Amino acid sequence: MLLNIAQKCLQLIGPEKAHDFTLSGLKITANTPLEWFYRQSLPNKPVSVMGIEFPNSVGLAAGLDKNGEAIDAFHSMGFGHIEVGTVTPRPQLGNQKPRLFRIRKKNAIINRMGFNNLGINNLITNLQAKESPAIVGVNIGKNRDTTLEHGLSDYIHCMKKVYEYANYIAVNVSSPNTPGLRSLQYGTLLDELLENLKQVQNDLTNQTNKYVPLALKIAPDLDRNEITSIAKAITRNDFDGVIATNTTLTRNDVEGLHHSDETGGLSGEPLFKRANQALDCLRQCLDPSIPIIAVGGIMSAKDAQKKLAIGADLVQIYTGFVYKGPKLIKDIVLKI
Ligand SMILES: Cc1cc2nc3c(=O)[nH]c(=O)nc-3n(C[C@H](O)[C@H](O)[C@H](O)COP(=O)(O)O)c2cc1C
Repeated sequence: MLLNIAQKCLQLIGPEKAHDFTLSGLKITANTPLEWFYRQSLPNKPVSVMGIEFPNSVGLAAGLDKNGEAIDAFHSMGFGHIEVGTVTPRPQLGNQKPRLFRIRKKNAIINRMGFNNLGINNLITNLQAKESPAIVGVNIGKNRDTTLEHGLSDYIHCMKKVYEYANYIAVNVSSPNTPGLRSLQYGTLLDELLENLKQVQNDLTNQTNKYVPLALKIAPDLDRNEITSIAKAITRNDFDGVIATNTTLTRNDVEGLHHSDETGGLSGEPLFKRANQALDCLRQCLDPSIPIIAVGGIMSAKDAQKKLAIGADLVQIYTGFVYKGPKLIKDIVLKI
C-alpha cells in the first residue's frame, strides 16, 4: 500500500529524477529498520547456474544500479542476484539530459543514458561496503572516448579490478548508446575480445584461486546467422554464459506514441517478443551446457515462465520493476 502510494508520487516527477530519488532512498534506508518498507521474505528456490548457487531465478538487470549503491536494499526486496553497472574504467557523465523517457501506455522505456557512471574505483568501494550476502554480477563496458581498437584494454582493466568482488562478470557489447559498441558482437572483433578475456580469467583464477564466470550480453537486433556466429564464438572461447537481451533499436508496438521517436534503446513490454525470438534462436544453436540469462519485457510471472520454458536458466527484470515495483519479484518467485 505505502509502496504503491510512493510509486504513484514518483511518477509525477521526471523519470530520471524519480530514478535518482529512489536510489538515494534505498541507499539511505538499506540495513536500517526503514528497510521494512520494501523488505520481502520469499521462499528459497535455489538454482545453480554457471557454478553459482542463486537463492532464486530472478535478478535485477544492469543499468538500474550502475554504481552498486543500493545492493543491500535490492537484496532485501528478494532479488536472487543483482547486476550492477555498466561500469567503465573512468567516470563519465553520459549523454545530455533528457535521456530517459517513459511510454506508459505500453509499459515501455526509451533510454540513451550512455553509460553514465562514477567509474570502476567508486564501484569497488561500494562492493566492499556491501553487508548482505547478495549475489552480484558486475557488468563492464568501455569509456565512450576509448576507441574501439583500445576497447579491449578497458574491459580487461575493469575485469581485473572487480574480479575479487564479483560473483560473475557480464561483458556488455550490446548497448546502443555508446557509438560503435555493438560492432564488438561480430567476427574477429568478438573473437579477439572473448579470447583475451578468457585468458585474463585463466590468469586471475590461478592468481586468486577463485573462478569468476564470464557472460556476454547481446542485443535483440541480430538475425539468425549473427546469433549463430555469436553462439559459435561463445563455445569456441569457452565463455560461461550469455545474457539475452539488451534494449532494441526497433520501435514496433510504440510507433506514433509520445516519445517513440526519441533516439535510444527501447525496453519493456514491446521488447518481449523480439527478445524471446533472440532467446529461442540462441537456445537452439548454443550448446545446452551453456546457460542463458533471459531479460527483456518481463512484466508478469507468466512472462518469466515463458522465458524459462524457452530455455532460460535465470531471468532479469528492469522496466517491469520500474512499473510494477518489488511485487513483481515476489509474483515471479512464487510462481516458478
Ligand atoms: C534506463 C536504462 C538503463 C540501462 N542501462 C544498461 C546498462 O548500463 N548496461 C546494460 O547492460 N544494460 C542496460 N540496460 C538494459 C537492461 O539491463 C535490460 O537489458 C533491458 O532494459 C531489457 O529488459 P527490460 O525490458 O526488463 O527492461 C538499461 C535499461 C534501461 C531501461
